[in-house]
This record gives sequence, C-alpha cells and structure tokens, in this order.
Amino acid sequence: MPKLLSINSFPDVKPYKSLENHQLQERIESVRRHLGSELLILGHHYQQDEVIEHSDLRGDSYQLSKMAAESKECRYIVFCGVHFMAETADILANRPDCLSQRNGNRVQVILPDLSAGCSMADMAAIDQVETAWADLGDVIDNSDITPITYINSAASLKAFCGKHGGAVCTSSNAQAVLDWAFSKTSRVLFFPDQHLGRNTALKMGIRENEMPVWNPHDDDLGGNSEESLANSRVILWQGHCSVHQMFQPEHVHQFREKIPDVKILVHPECRREVNDLADISGSTGKIIDTVKKAAPGTQWAIGTELHLVNRLQKEHPEQNIQFLSPTLCMCATMYRIDLAHLCWSLENLANGNIVNVIRVDDVTSDHSLIALERMLNLTN
Ligand code: 13P
Ligand code: SF4
Repeated sequence: MPKLLSINSFPDVKPYKSLENHQLQERIESVRRHLGSELLILGHHYQQDEVIEHSDLRGDSYQLSKMAAESKECRYIVFCGVHFMAETADILANRPDCLSQRNGNRVQVILPDLSAGCSMADMAAIDQVETAWADLGDVIDNSDITPITYINSAASLKAFCGKHGGAVCTSSNAQAVLDWAFSKTSRVLFFPDQHLGRNTALKMGIRENEMPVWNPHDDDLGGNSEESLANSRVILWQGHCSVHQMFQPEHVHQFREKIPDVKILVHPECRREVNDLADISGSTGKIIDTVKKAAPGTQWAIGTELHLVNRLQKEHPEQNIQFLSPTLCMCATMYRIDLAHLCWSLENLANGNIVNVIRVDDVTSDHSLIALERMLNLTN
C-alpha cells in the first residue's frame, strides 16, 4: 500500500485530541480519498453525527452484518460501532469462500477505539453460558433446547450456538429465528438480552410464566425451580441494555396525556412494560424507516439511543419528534468512537501501521459462522 506522504501519523491518539473538528474531518477525508475502494467505513445508527458522516455505509446490526458479508473489493473495514459488530464483520468478511476469492488475503477489521464495547454483551460470558447449559442438562434434555444468541454478544457465544445447533438473531429478525428454533426443539435458551427475548416470544403467544429468567450469578439453577424449567418454552438470560432500561411506562403515560395522538416508537431492548404500551417496536433500521414513511406533522416519542433520535429530529423537521425519556440515555461505549480515534486509526492505516485490529481466532470464527449463516439464510 502506498504511504500517505503528506501526513505524519502518531503512534498515540493523544495528539489528535487537541485538533479542531474541521482539521480532523479534512484529514479523515484525505485518507478516504487516498485508500479509495480498499477502505470501507461502516457506521452504526447510534454513532455521533460527526462520525457517521464519514461512513460509506450505515445500518442497524443486521444490515451491517450483511454489508460485511457482501464486501467484495475492500481490504480494510473500519467499524464505527462496538466490539461485537467488528468481530462479526471479521468473521463474515473473512469466511472461507471470500478468503479463497482473495487468494487468502484477509480483510483487516479495525475498531477505532478498543474500549468501545457493549455492556449488555458483557453480561454473558462463555463460561457462564457453558455452566448454564450443563446445569440445564441435569434437569431437562439439552437436545430439546436451541441456544439463540442476540448478535450483541461475544464471538465465543456465537460459536457456542454454532456448535449446539443454534443461531444468532438481531432485533430485526428475532421472531423468524425463534420460529426456526421452535420448528426443531420445544425450548430455547436466549441470551444475553432478556427483553428482546421476552418481547419477541410474547408476540408469538408464549406466556410470561413459560419464560423463566436465568441468573448467571445464582449457582442454584440460575435461581429457578426444576418445575419452572421443566415447564419453560424460552429460558431468558438475565441481561439487559443499560440505555434502553432507562425508558419507563410512566414516560409513555406522560406523553399520551400531553399529546393524545402521539405515536410511541421504541426499540425491543426496552422492558416489556414499555414495549407493550408502544405503538411500534423495532430495530434502529425499522425506527428510521417508520419515521421516513410517516405523514408530515406526525407526533412521535421515540425510545432508543439519543444520537439516533437527535438525528431523526434534524432530518425530519416536517415531523414532531421527541425523546421518550426526560433523562438523556446515550450509549457511552458507542460514543467512544470519536473523530480523534477515527482519524488516528485511519492515518496509521494509510501509513502502513494497522492499529486496533479485531481478529477472531479461526476455531471460534468457524463455529460462529455456522450460527451467523443460519440467521442470514433465514432472513435473506
Ligand atoms: P439494532 O440492531 O436495532 O441496530 O440494535 C443494536 C443495538 O445495539 C441496540 O442497542
Ligand atoms: Fe450495547 Fe445498549 Fe449500547 Fe446497544 S445501546 S451497544 S445494547 S449498551
């Protein structure tokens, strides 16, 4: 790769922090021009405006995983999102058929700040899932349980699902994936987001009392009786998103009192009590599409991450969009990807020094791919 001679990159991100936004923006664009189609910048909808403006493609988690799977020309993906998204991109962009088309050359996936994780994904560790699986096997038949992991999880959990006949799902296809699981087994173990699991299963007619919650910190059957596990349809992992957890049913009631024709639009990571009251619930992609298609003058109260709601407000002045919670709920880890980190990682890349590479080991990757492809085949 030719070096970008006009710019000196720095080994450390610190000097970039003192640059003005317009300087960082110009330098980022200069690297984009220099690397051309070798570089693909992907951005999740929760990114700050100033960062997502530099992405080639933006999307929800499902759309982004498809984009990574379909990336043909690029040699580098810079992921403006969080760690599990970059891992997924590494697995999909470097699957065996793609690698052989590229004569074994890997697409390098870069996360501009390695501390951009997801607190929900951190609520399920592989050893906890393996322990839960073994403990469940003492009480119910493992071969009649399909493990399903929300894409917001470490690659090791996706690999676990691949190994045990399970699949990955996202917020836009959870119902299709659960339908598939129930065509094979009578039970599902769903991790790490209890709310997405519960909200989806309720829509499918499964009752709350058929959904015990597994507490990974309780050594005694995750805090459940043998009877409740024997009667279960969906065993929900006790995990949640700290951002979406903030939206409360009172917020919905307050909006409906103030604005009787308000439409409540939420992400299914919100708790059941909020999700049940909402007019519409869906992935970030669905939230955006719903607003785009609505008639001018529609009144909205939206329950999802703040940066996306603020962007929708700016992009749709013809509609009246408000944030559902009186307190600001933002994803602090997504926010770690800022212009300074983006510029730093790009300039290093342009100078042949690839920083913050996300590389899933081959064994984990192979098993994760099975679980990811089951999802992609179901929803493509
Ligand atoms: P989406 O798949 O809807 O973009 O959600 C990702 C996410 O992390 C929501 O908190
Ligand atoms: Fe994770 Fe919640 Fe942030 Fe989404 S919004 S990345 S689930 S912490």
